[in-house]
Amino acid sequence: MAQASGSADVPNMGRRQFMNFLTFGAVTGTALGALYPVVKYFIPPSSGAAGGGVTAKDALGNDISVTNFLASHNAGERALAQGLKGDPTYVVVDTNQAISNYGINAVCTHLGCVVPWNASENKFICPCHGSQYDNTGKVVRGPAPLSLALAHATVADDKITFTPWTETDFRTGDDPWWA
Ligand code: FES
Repeated sequence: MAQASGSADVPNMGRRQFMNFLTFGAVTGTALGALYPVVKYFIPPSSGAAGGGVTAKDALGNDISVTNFLASHNAGERALAQGLKGDPTYVVVDTNQAISNYGINAVCTHLGCVVPWNASENKFICPCHGSQYDNTGKVVRGPAPLSLALAHATVADDKITFTPWTETDFRTGDDPWWA
């Protein structure tokens, strides 16, 4: 097999070398494809709107300013915002007066009422049929069968971005029922 030395042209590449090259490409491509979900799992959700995220909005549809929000909400408060798919979603103010890295979907898992936050009880209590959820949205009293859904909440540029929560539910250790 004649080869012009120094040439990088594919036709001059040895056939075996070329096949190896193709195989390597295919295997690498497949491996990277298979790794994608794994890699994605370990990368924190983007703070931008990429990856299915939305900027948290107030009742008027304006982006929430974190500065203004924290100036008017106390540590431990849960306050409604518009979240993923327009679902009412609680922004959680943690005990250090910062925005928690998770938001709580306010839609009751029983029949879909929006569940209000009850600060004095430190719980979410559904007015429709009395279901109760603790301050993380974990169900503590039926008839609701499941905990409130979670979303990731990240803060950047004075805005909050919600992104889908597809990992283990930290409250139950189970796979998320909503993902
Ligand atoms: Fe919430 Fe029935 S809808 S308890």
